[in-house]
Amino acid sequence: MPTPATPEPGQPDASGAGRPVLLVISGSTRPVRKSTALADWLCGLADEQGAFDVDVVELAELGLPLLDEPYHPRLQRYQHEHTKAWSRRVERASAVVFVTPEYNHSYPAGLKNAIDYLSVEWRGKPLGYLTYGGVSAGTRAMVALQPVAVALGMRVLPQAVNVPFVANVVGEAGTVDANETMVAAGRAMLVALAKAVAEQRLLRAQPTG
Ligand SMILES: Cc1cc2nc3c(=O)[nH]c(=O)nc-3n(C[C@H](O)[C@H](O)[C@H](O)COP(=O)(O)O)c2cc1C
Repeated sequence: MPTPATPEPGQPDASGAGRPVLLVISGSTRPVRKSTALADWLCGLADEQGAFDVDVVELAELGLPLLDEPYHPRLQRYQHEHTKAWSRRVERASAVVFVTPEYNHSYPAGLKNAIDYLSVEWRGKPLGYLTYGGVSAGTRAMVALQPVAVALGMRVLPQAVNVPFVANVVGEAGTVDANETMVAAGRAMLVALAKAVAEQRLLRAQPTG
């Protein structure tokens, strides 16, 4: 698997300058998680496609405490360095993918916590999902995330990757045995994300008034 390009933090490019950054959030914080391997697999597809620089966030390594900011995130009056760094990282992304398992018919608390830290940074960003689980393929996690994404003003795309029986796809060593359906879904989602970003850049470049 090729190593994903990880641009330096603090280089805003969501503005329309340079190659867009795709933020891939590996949403499980368990020590034996599958989200790392699946995020890595998606990065491989994105590298092949070539439309994005990819920034993979491991929530387990990001180590955000339970939300500890005193002000509403909409105000962006962040008091803690961990929040400021997280804000910069999300801000410079042009599009986002949540890579998430299904836990108890929903998504992991760590992912909700990371989302809730910020507000305007998510706004307008095209969003794709890579979900996984048992027979439901993580679709209940995706459905549970929808109102959250809508509340934040994200642009949720219909294209998604939903992986059923994840233990048959991701091996103990982190190898991903993707079938044709999964690869086609991954490529379609990445194309849709790239198109959404291109549309946004075009709109932003239009003269106003
Ligand atoms: C707390 C917990 C709750 C789970 N609940 C569900 C569930 O509701 N539906 C499902 O399909 N799988 C469920 N599973 C199985 C997970 O989808 C599977 O263990 C997956 O590998 C977890 O992702 P992770 O390894 O990246 O943490 C659950 C697993 C855990 C740890």
